[in-house]
Amino acid sequence: MFKINDNYLKLPGSYLFSTIGKKVKAFQEANPDKEIIRLGIGDVTQPLAPAIIERLHAAVSEMGVQETFKGYAPDLGYEFLRSAIVENDYKARGVDISIDEVFVSDGAKCDSGNIQEIFALGNKIAVCDPVYPVYVDSNVMAGRTGTYDAATGLWSDVIYMPCKEENGFAPELPDVVPDIIYLCFPNNPTGATITKDQLQKWVDYANANHSVIIYDAAYEAYISEANVPHTIYECDGAKTCAIELRSFSKNAGFTGTRLGFTVIPKDLKDADGVALNALWARRHGTKYNGAPYIVQAAGAEVYSKAGKEQTAKQIAYYMNNAKYIYSGLKDAGYSVSGGVNAPYIWLKTPDNMTSWDFFDYLLEKANVVGTPGSGFGPSGEGYFRLTAFGTYENTVKAVDRIKAL
Ligand code: MLT
Repeated sequence: MFKINDNYLKLPGSYLFSTIGKKVKAFQEANPDKEIIRLGIGDVTQPLAPAIIERLHAAVSEMGVQETFKGYAPDLGYEFLRSAIVENDYKARGVDISIDEVFVSDGAKCDSGNIQEIFALGNKIAVCDPVYPVYVDSNVMAGRTGTYDAATGLWSDVIYMPCKEENGFAPELPDVVPDIIYLCFPNNPTGATITKDQLQKWVDYANANHSVIIYDAAYEAYISEANVPHTIYECDGAKTCAIELRSFSKNAGFTGTRLGFTVIPKDLKDADGVALNALWARRHGTKYNGAPYIVQAAGAEVYSKAGKEQTAKQIAYYMNNAKYIYSGLKDAGYSVSGGVNAPYIWLKTPDNMTSWDFFDYLLEKANVVGTPGSGFGPSGEGYFRLTAFGTYENTVKAVDRIKAL
């Protein structure tokens, strides 16, 4: 008789964006004449850049020719992509990362969910609160989080680091030392960032306590301020304590195409001297057959001159939306943050409404979809996230509708 992994039964409700999807679908079915504007899930709306499309077409053609056909991709990704990553994302920023420290994958979501596999069950995790739900849920599935308290929305074995207005939505170093620290900057969902000096404190703390930082830098392309680090490896000593997750979804519109990578420096070792890089390589080789050649070829094109120019324009387009949402809601009297180094606007719900009440209110009265802050954790209660990834026209319409409420 088989038994299931009953950790899965501990997960409360469905995944946040699935819950939202169901609610929106039900509303649309009941109100077929309403035009709904979706500023909920952070999904891009601009088509892939022309240079990337051109490369995709060429790569597809290569697959149909005997001499250039490709079968399985190399475990860790094609070297042409990994060297483009090393040159552009790291060397260009004065950071020395080598090709065999870069693991190409089909996206940061999978890597952020899977990376916990290489750590012992007894490890204590710390997360920002609010938090991208994948970090906690994947640890729940593994059985690392203890019991759930429905009244507080907290897991007994997780260290929560509240990120509130009072602390600029930035976490403080926890008193109880975690083994694994999840950080995401620019932050999803709050859009907050920390400076290089602030991040250096985390790196020093992790090295002093032999903790590991899992640093999600999926939104680094949206950074506009000079003192905000693009990679944790800009900090001294990060190579002995940090794993970095990166994504092509948000910097180049690959949400439907799927591509990402994880960096695990060879100097990152557990207390017994076991290198995490080797463990992840073993895991990758066993469980993963690589992102498709055509997608990796398109990914490398992101680093070409044309690719850089065209994706920079897309980012500027989304950040113009962010500015519009930010200033529009501020003018309307909302308390807003984010949107400067990130494509997310984090706003306080009006009149002390709960996050879900405001979600329903906005859907019903303005036909605008956002994401309830409480879906990201207890400290998100009373907050709401809007994404700048819509079209400009829809963004303007959504803000106008919210202002008119
Ligand atoms: C979000 O809306 O938080 C993100 O789009 C989710 C993701 O990247 O998986």
